[in-house]
Amino acid sequence: MKIAIGNDHVGIELKPIIIRFLKELGHEVEDFGAFTNERTDYPEYGKKVAENVAAGKADLGILICGTGVGISIAANKVKGIRAVVCSEPYSAKLSREHNNTNILAFGSRVIGSEMAKMIVQNWLEAEFEGGRHQNRVTMIAGIENE
Ligand code: RB5
Repeated sequence: MKIAIGNDHVGIELKPIIIRFLKELGHEVEDFGAFTNERTDYPEYGKKVAENVAAGKADLGILICGTGVGISIAANKVKGIRAVVCSEPYSAKLSREHNNTNILAFGSRVIGSEMAKMIVQNWLEAEFEGGRHQNRVTMIAGIENE
């Protein structure tokens, strides 16, 4: 898959570890920054990655900030984005199976790199189940169009 990745200055050290892991799993990665540890603003990167995913240029997106919260909130403002912030693999897996999430966020101040990798792998390997869940995801899209 093609995966868009983005982060703020707090996520800068964890990002290369995740990029390497994604490539080991056979994915193509496009990095939307930030590229230095100079203080920056997470909404910028949440928006860039979310717009790329929403436009269909990437299949999925991954976002990293201190908690994963701010950057996922920003991403969720983009139409068509269902971003989840996860600190454990169970929610990550279920968020794909039930909610068809298209962006995964996590916090570099919350989890370590091995947990992050486990979350990423569970999220990527899970598939949307459709069926009764499709109706609910359609309802979420309906809220966007109100
Ligand atoms: C930056 O200090 C921090 O607020 C940011 O990385 C993130 O945790 C926000 O949700």
